[in-house]
Amino acid sequence: MDWFPLGKVSDVPLGGGRYVDTPAGQIAVLRNEEGELFAVHNRCPHRGGPLSEGFVSGKTVFCPLHNWQIDLERGEALPPDQGCVKTFPLKTEGEEIWLGLSEAQP
Ligand code: FES
Repeated sequence: MDWFPLGKVSDVPLGGGRYVDTPAGQIAVLRNEEGELFAVHNRCPHRGGPLSEGFVSGKTVFCPLHNWQIDLERGEALPPDQGCVKTFPLKTEGEEIWLGLSEAQP
């Protein structure tokens, strides 16, 4: 696994997110109010809305465009909506966030 730097934990607002351009495309880094971090492609499976601008509650992000709810662990839209966004592993070392990229990644 290669690790790509995503910036600092304190750069990601609680209950929200930011995006970072990476070798795997544009990634939304999201943080819930408990401080848990998640990484997914920054494209809603509905019509490509920027999930980094969504509201994060628990393990769910609400898309800012039409309010689809996406489960951040599985990357799947919650019913009745259907769709999937790619999720990525993350790790933190102190304040630094790292995105895990498998070798198969473009
Ligand atoms: S683009 Fe995300 S809900 Fe429509």
